Amino acid sequence: MPVEDKVAVQAADKKDKLRIGIVGTGGIAHAHMKAYKDMDDVEIIGGSDLVPGKARAFLDEFGLTDAPDFEDNNKLFALKPDGVSVCTYNTTHHVCAVAAMRSGIHVLCEKPMSVTLDQAVQMARAQKETGKILTIGFQPRYDANMKMVKEIVQSGVLGNVYYVQTGGGRRRGIPGGTFVNKELAGVGCLADIGCYGLDMALNSVGYRKPVTVSAYASDFFGKNPKYFKDDFSVDDFTCALVRFEDGLVLDFRMSWAMHMDTMGDTLFLGTEAGLKVKSPNPHLNWGGAWDGTIGDVYMYTDVVGNQVETKIPLKPAEKSNNFAAKVRAFLDAIKEGGESPIPWQEIIYNQAIIDGIIRSSAAKHEVDVVIPEI
Ligand SMILES: NC(=O)c1ccc[n+]([C@@H]2O[C@H](COP(=O)([O-])OP(=O)(O)OC[C@H]3O[C@@H](n4cnc5c(N)ncnc54)[C@H](O)[C@@H]3O)[C@@H](O)[C@H]2O)c1
Repeated sequence: MPVEDKVAVQAADKKDKLRIGIVGTGGIAHAHMKAYKDMDDVEIIGGSDLVPGKARAFLDEFGLTDAPDFEDNNKLFALKPDGVSVCTYNTTHHVCAVAAMRSGIHVLCEKPMSVTLDQAVQMARAQKETGKILTIGFQPRYDANMKMVKEIVQSGVLGNVYYVQTGGGRRRGIPGGTFVNKELAGVGCLADIGCYGLDMALNSVGYRKPVTVSAYASDFFGKNPKYFKDDFSVDDFTCALVRFEDGLVLDFRMSWAMHMDTMGDTLFLGTEAGLKVKSPNPHLNWGGAWDGTIGDVYMYTDVVGNQVETKIPLKPAEKSNNFAAKVRAFLDAIKEGGESPIPWQEIIYNQAIIDGIIRSSAAKHEVDVVIPEI
């Protein structure tokens, strides 16, 4: 093929590619980049990070030596990417996501959606006003067994689900880095793995309106040099009882560190049957929380008067593909002009519960959950 034709083919190829930027080039940005690099229809057009030199080193690490790097996100947005992954620490998700959407760019934002409810509202309003895709990065949703749990719960086989217990916890699993700094993470264990637990439970039953929450949070392990040697200014344990408008009750517990193997399995109690999702690996320091992988699943019911326990066969683990699946869902939504795969209309309830938990544990009594008007 003559060189001119080759160039023309390459140009056409590029034209069909989605132009993607990465905002915040720390730890998790690597997983985003790896997933994008595996997609034939993506061109990474650049990256930004407020730490000088960090975006450059990140792009170089992936062989993208020609892709421009910025300290100012607006300069990346000025290149008009189709979409960006917002991979900054929790307290700056809203700033970056809102600015991107207002620049006409679709956003895949890392979990949790935000720290405060007000930040989530800013993001939701920007999405509503711009019509851009805003999806929140809960990759466990793409796990085959997570989908199966949702399918079982939504099939109606459990009858009326009136109580859900969820969370689990790690025995020694304080992550460190920006996760334990209040100014950067905003919230600790609750925002890190707690938001997964909330999403997996509430996505399974179908997101619905929370009304009150009574919560407790502590930091005994993070603040004790016997267990954690760095500065620590967030929570390492949270539990809460959340009531929903339709009567559902959620018993939530999540821990980064404790003298226990797990805070328990995830349980769905229904009027016709119950479902137990075991914590995946409670014998491992980091394994007792349902934050991605899944343990064995059992259903409990009566069959002609006999109490029966059934082990539901798990589907082959596809954990390594979940991250790629969340990135793919974002890209497909952009390409097809589709709905957000994990929209704020659901996750705003997750954030309203987190907000209620923070207020209740500070006030030491039950509080109303605030559902904002968007
Ligand atoms: N989905 C997952 O499996 C998963 C796993 C780990 C972390 N996360 C989430 O990803 C986010 C980042 O976590 P991390 O471990 O990569 O943190 P990190 O601290 O390693 O990286 C964050 C980066 O964002 C940059 N940054 C912060 N504010 C910015 C701004 N306004 N503009 C540009 N850059 C900015 C920081 O300089 C830093 O380099 C967190 O919200 C975390 O909850 C998700």
